[in-house]
Amino acid sequence: MTSKKSHYMNTILEDKIAIITGGASGIGAASARLFANHGAKVIIADFADEKGHKLAESLSPHTTFIQCNVSNEQDVSAVVDLAMEKHGRLDIMFNNAGVTDRQTGTVADYGMDQFDKAMNVNARGAMHGIKHAARVMIPNRKGSIINTSSVSGMVGGMGPYGYTVSKHAIIGVTKNGAAELGKYGIRVNCISPAALATELVMNYLGKDSSEEEIAKVDAVAHSIANLKGTVLKAEDIAYAALYLASEESKYVSGHNLVVDGGIAVVNHNWGLYK
Ligand SMILES: NC(=O)c1ccc[n+]([C@@H]2O[C@H](COP(=O)([O-])OP(=O)(O)OC[C@H]3O[C@@H](n4cnc5c(N)ncnc54)[C@H](O)[C@@H]3O)[C@@H](O)[C@H]2O)c1
Repeated sequence: MTSKKSHYMNTILEDKIAIITGGASGIGAASARLFANHGAKVIIADFADEKGHKLAESLSPHTTFIQCNVSNEQDVSAVVDLAMEKHGRLDIMFNNAGVTDRQTGTVADYGMDQFDKAMNVNARGAMHGIKHAARVMIPNRKGSIINTSSVSGMVGGMGPYGYTVSKHAIIGVTKNGAAELGKYGIRVNCISPAALATELVMNYLGKDSSEEEIAKVDAVAHSIANLKGTVLKAEDIAYAALYLASEESKYVSGHNLVVDGGIAVVNHNWGLYK
């Protein structure tokens, strides 16, 4: 790699002000690292206090942590206010925090409290993020809002009910956000990853996050994946977010950037390419 190219690559978000919800772990943490490495001033907003503080301290001195529950509108509003107080502007809002509900048995036994939990954090949380980012981005006539959906937001049978519905909803709010906010120069996009071994998945499977357990989950993910020879990692999603956050995607809005090795658009059960 030439020095010119690496200089360019490391300044793609120079001085951009970014909020990343769910930024203490997994995809959010990988994105916080990557955004900070590319010159952004990152505010990590997460439920997980200790982890978030630790990560922020390990990144650039411009990185801040704030505790936040995205299902609480006042919390999200306070995170956006912090960006304004500290930096006077918000360029990038990455609504990434997410949880999954639990389904044991059939839908006939499904606990509706589980549905509410997933909807409150995933769908309502993203809506809060769009609403409060728009509040400060509209006067600035600029901004990039990114939401994390999932392959479960596109096809059925890849997650429990609350997760599936809330992730479909995120694709919906992305489109509505893009439709409304385009006239203010604000882009709204989402990313749909396939399954990857983050804490969300490890907890769901009842496994610890040791290297050994992660390797086992990676092996299962590889065995059911459409694309072979590689395994999806949080950093791969962070690069998708970096693109959508940066000016490189300046005419991309309302888009669902699917990072799933093609799993959501193929059905090998038919047998043609088995
Ligand atoms: N891991 C996967 O297989 C996968 C696939 C598709 C989409 N996603 C989505 O990616 C996003 C990030 O998840 P991850 O896989 O990195 O998992 P993760 O568990 O590593 O990270 C999620 C983060 O969100 C935080 N969080 C949870 N609830 C919160 C709340 N109410 N308020 C603030 N923060 C909260 C957690 O503390 C955690 O730090 C989620 O939206 C998830 O649904 C994950």
